[in-house]
Parts: sequence; C-alpha cells; structure tokens
Amino acid sequence: MAGSLLRHKQPPLLSLLRANPKPGSQEGLRKCAQPLTFRSATSGVVVDRSAKFWDKIAERYSKQPIADEAAYQKKLQVTRGYFRPDMEVLEFGCGTGSTAITHAPYVKHILAIDISSKMIEIAQGKADAEDIENIAFQRSTIDAFSVPDGSLDAVLGLSILHLLDNKERVINKVRKMLKPGGFFVTSTACLGDSMKYFKFVAPIGTFLSLLPLVKVFTTSELVASLTEAGFEIDYQWQPRKDAAVFIVAKKAQ
Ligand SMILES: C[S@@+](CC[C@H](N)C(=O)[O-])C[C@H]1O[C@@H](n2cnc3c(N)ncnc32)[C@H](O)[C@@H]1O
Repeated sequence: MAGSLLRHKQPPLLSLLRANPKPGSQEGLRKCAQPLTFRSATSGVVVDRSAKFWDKIAERYSKQPIADEAAYQKKLQVTRGYFRPDMEVLEFGCGTGSTAITHAPYVKHILAIDISSKMIEIAQGKADAEDIENIAFQRSTIDAFSVPDGSLDAVLGLSILHLLDNKERVINKVRKMLKPGGFFVTSTACLGDSMKYFKFVAPIGTFLSLLPLVKVFTTSELVASLTEAGFEIDYQWQPRKDAAVFIVAKKAQ
C-alpha cells in the first residue's frame, strides 16, 4: 500500500515508512500523536504546509516512473469509456498534469487544479509543449475552488482523497458540481485496509514535513462516504490487494 500512498509512482518515503512502524511501538506513537491533532483547527496552516510539501517534491515527482504502468493504462481506458467529446471535466489534485493531458483529446474541455503552484507550472509547461488548447491549469485547493452547481459532466480525483483533511466535504462538493448522471473517477490509497498503524505514523511524518497530510480509512469507509453522498458505484477495481482502489461513481439522474 505504501507504494500507492503517493500515486502509482514509487515514493522516496518508503524507506521512512519502513524505518518507523514496528507494531510494538504503537503505544509510544499514540502518545506523541495527540498534540498534532490541534493542527486541524487551523486549516490555514495545514493548507500552507501541504502546498509547501508538494512544491518541494514537484520536480522529483514529475520524474518518478509509474510503478504499475498496466494498471495506469487500464484506469485511463476505463475512464475514457465514460467520456464524450462534448464533456466539461474537472481534475483536482492534478499534479504535473499527465493524466489530464492524456484525457484532453477525448472531451470538450478539462480544467485541472492543484494546491501546488510548482506542480501547476510543470503541468502548464507540458501542455504548452504539446500545444494542447482545451485544457486549463489553475492553482487552487479543492476547498477554495468553485463552479456553478450542476455544471460539470465529470470530475477526476486521482490519488488525492486520502490526502484531504475532510473527504466527505469534498465528495459532497463534487456531487453538487456534477450534472445529474455525471460521474466521479477516483483512485485512492485505502491505508486502513492493510496499514491501520499508519494512523499514528502519518501525523508525525506530516509534523516533520516528511509526509503530506495523510488520512487512513478503509475501502468500505470510502464506498460508504460516496454512497451516503448520493453516488452509485458504477465501477470498482483494485489491481492488487495492496494497490489503490479505482472507483467510478455516478450521480443519480
Ligand atoms: C499524490 S499527488 C497525485 C497527483 C496526480 N493526481 C497523480 O495521480 O499523479 C497529490 C496531488 O494533490 C495535490 N493536493 C494536495 N492537497 C490538495 C488540495 N487540498 N487541493 C488541491 N490539490 C491538492 C498535491 O499538490 C499533489 O499534486
């Protein structure tokens, strides 16, 4: 699962993850994790730290190879199966833009946002180099971003729901932004399935700026968040037990 923590790329953090968690030390970790929860009350600080973290690793991230190319290609293909040429699409947490750029030829327009200005800079450079016109990159958090309700055909949130302070709030926002029958494509590391102890490790890693904000939940908790928000699960796939969970959820007509 650690491999899918930061996406389908092999993260440099693995050594950190491997270094820290020994089952015996959970109690110690639990004790020192407490003070860190205070941070959620000051979301401004969380956002700044998060943006700084992603700005710092953007260059390295853009050079990282895709860990499971076959799984990535399958996710692209399944997503394209839902696209039509007249569709308006949003991708949030677009990173260096590879996926948005790949999907652009299959839809009318893609707006891709990210908290990191460095990621957006790299993404814009790629789109300019390929002369892609129906794509726009914008620096924004998903919380600060807004479009009129019911104005989007599709929303992509790839390798990001586990990095958000409050995924339910964002899932509800996505449902509002979608037209009836619109769909939400996600690929998410559900660390609660096999790395529950990470709940104690992550706040320390975030506090030390070694990790971004990471939330630990299970696949069934993610599915419950989507269905409770009014989505129907239309497609669900997990390449391997320890891989990210790929879901296409539809907003009822
Ligand atoms: C693991 S990367 C995934 C990037 C891309 N979707 C991919 O699959 O490679 C997570 C991305 O989400 C961005 N991000 C983190 N928190 C965010 C937020 N609250 N709003 C928008 N983007 C955010 C980060 O800057 C980073 O580019």
